[in-house]
Amino acid sequence: MQALAELDLPYLPVETEEFAADPVRYFNAAKVQHPWIAESDIGFFIHEYTAIRELLLQDDKMRPAYDGIIEQMGARGTPWGRFTEEQLISLPAEKHRFLRDTFAAKFTPRFANQLRPMMRQTISELLDEWTPSGRMDFEEMASYFPISNMFTLVGAPREEIPAIRSSLETLGLAFSMDKNRLPEIHEAYERLEDLVQRLIANRRANPEAGNPDDLLALLINTGDEGNVDPRQLADLIIFFFIAGYDTSKNVLTYAMFKMLDRPDIYERCGADHEYCRKVVEESLRYFNPGSVPRFAAEDIVFRDVLLPKDTMLWFTLNISGHDPGTFEDPERFDPDRPIAPEKRQIAFSLGKHMCLGQYIARAQLQEALHLIPQRIRNPRLAGEYGWRPYPGAWGLKGLPIEFTPA
Ligand code: HEM
Repeated sequence: MQALAELDLPYLPVETEEFAADPVRYFNAAKVQHPWIAESDIGFFIHEYTAIRELLLQDDKMRPAYDGIIEQMGARGTPWGRFTEEQLISLPAEKHRFLRDTFAAKFTPRFANQLRPMMRQTISELLDEWTPSGRMDFEEMASYFPISNMFTLVGAPREEIPAIRSSLETLGLAFSMDKNRLPEIHEAYERLEDLVQRLIANRRANPEAGNPDDLLALLINTGDEGNVDPRQLADLIIFFFIAGYDTSKNVLTYAMFKMLDRPDIYERCGADHEYCRKVVEESLRYFNPGSVPRFAAEDIVFRDVLLPKDTMLWFTLNISGHDPGTFEDPERFDPDRPIAPEKRQIAFSLGKHMCLGQYIARAQLQEALHLIPQRIRNPRLAGEYGWRPYPGAWGLKGLPIEFTPA
């Protein structure tokens, strides 16, 4: 057996702008030196598709590393630090299992399908507002889609969307490990906490004023039936705002970016609702924002390498779909590529923390990808775009386009 410290591992400058602009190139170069693990200043990166799958399916031997991030950011004891350490995804195994088991059964494909008319209306209204000039920052438009859906789902006042969007933008950058951002992170978190507490208090005081079938009702009622602590319920609702925001926005933005060079796929999306499902899966293989952080909770021996207890590991879901060992011609964007079960995209992670919102996320993306090409004709890149920091909620920063409004 080899000790981690004895391996001659490639070093990845993950926090640099150059890295965020093209991580696949860095990971491909790293594979030459070691096939599945690399080191960085913030922990070890597991980058091979099969290694990620095999290790994440042993998630019981690991614990989410959000407390490590709070420690590194120096945010322990702050409201945002408390939330980050106690949110659903960070809880110790038993507490997590209780909370997840209480809610998971409700997040079915059927529930997501019921939300499709609302999603269609949201994207249609956004396109009404954003398309007349024939120019837009697509990323900015896309950012209003998941947040507007979430606001409808919890009956929140729409005039607060811009302020909460700004909070979610800030919180999305929180895990890029930049301490200078702490004052704005704290302010952003407190704005979100305030909204969620008001929503819960108003709904409890006046249940008949809200939609009895919406997400807020589902979370409050399910929480009450399961005797969930009020603090945990509020944390869960806050977490839903955060978990569904830049994940969905970044994937939609990247899918659009990719299709700027593939008008054939773009046109077919507009014409064929069912085809959009395939485009969603291929988009999630090709791009997704996630780098999942974990600590080894015990010594783990993997492929004859000892990963000692408390080693910080990052699972790079975001580039896993580019692994040449698993995917044939991985740089080819091909929604018609056959998908074997053992080679499915893993953008929603695997194991006990697998995304609870995955059916909602897929439905949102599918509805948007179907309607956008009907309303934004012949889109072209119309300026510079950049990249959000890696390894946070990674993705494009800005996507200026011009087009013919339909
Ligand atoms: C394309 C969009 C999305 C992507 C790529 C995505 C990705 C992920 C990933 C990778 C995880 C696991 C993180 C980990 O293991 O540490 C996760 C967890 C989670 N996601 Fe998503 N997500 C998306 C959208 C959503 C939406 C829309 C919601 C809610 C409506 C949501 C709610 C959640 C929740 C509650 C968890 C925590 C599950 C647990 O810890 O048991 N996500 N998501």
